[in-house]
Amino acid sequence: MSELSVNHLLGIKYLNNDDIKLIFETADHFKEVINRPIKKVPSLRDITIANLFFENSTRTKLSFELAEKRLSADVINFSASQSSVKKGETLIDTVNNILSMKVDMVVMRHPNPGASVFLSNHVNASIINAGDGAHEHPTQALLDSYSIRERLGSVRGKKVVIVGDILHSRVALSNIFALKTQGAQVMVCGPKTLIPKYIDKLGVTVETNLKKALNWCDVANMLRVQNERMSVSYFPSAREYTQQYGVNMKLLKSLDKEITIMHPGPINRGVEITSEVADSDQAIILDQVQNGVAIRMAVIYLLASKIKQ
Ligand code: CP
Repeated sequence: MSELSVNHLLGIKYLNNDDIKLIFETADHFKEVINRPIKKVPSLRDITIANLFFENSTRTKLSFELAEKRLSADVINFSASQSSVKKGETLIDTVNNILSMKVDMVVMRHPNPGASVFLSNHVNASIINAGDGAHEHPTQALLDSYSIRERLGSVRGKKVVIVGDILHSRVALSNIFALKTQGAQVMVCGPKTLIPKYIDKLGVTVETNLKKALNWCDVANMLRVQNERMSVSYFPSAREYTQQYGVNMKLLKSLDKEITIMHPGPINRGVEITSEVADSDQAIILDQVQNGVAIRMAVIYLLASKIKQ
């Protein structure tokens, strides 16, 4: 296969296994490029990309911008907090005004689930979802699987547990879709109140005991408790959460085998993961960030190839 089956990257649920393989093979090439002394290729000199961030971001925003610049695309950045959205302009009006400046592709982070799908139905540009509320974060899941493939050789057959606030997490949902599509076994672990009721329909198992979950898995992906999406308390206290669902070195050392630790960031050190674990050789957290640039270059390059046809 030489092209993606989709014209937008709205969510992992729209990708098949061949799409993911193609993205990974293309990312392998770009990873080699970004480790050269001259880290740029001229592939997208004729493409203009707008990065629209309606919600805060450090990693995703910088990673997309760097990926676009490494591909030689023209880049414009928009941050909702400094824009005319504050004066009441709608999403469609905002994007159509930006597109009238001859923009080919839009990378968008938005607090509302479905915002990217909505946009793709209303504007004439290729849309990449950079995180939409508690729905999907497709490039995060791609870079997560790519990092598992890099560390463990493959994703197929691996046992991955996603730990923490599954209910409010777009990273969890996109990872479940990506891992299942590639043939991994997936478990979720956390307090019952933070696990959605429909979760078994996604083909994952549920474990509320962290030590049992860690003894089962090859990889643990630790999630942050997303207080910004909570209007009520889902557990008695942060201290109690850490006691039951935080990973520390003593717990890792008590396991039957050495497991790989992942985290999408931002980390709340001392809550879901201690600094000792986050900074240990078992953690691949900064590899995930580094791989994000190659994965985003691959996604942008493959979608841009479809615009040019
Ligand atoms: N992992 C992630 O999406 O981080 P940011 O919110 O900093 O982009």
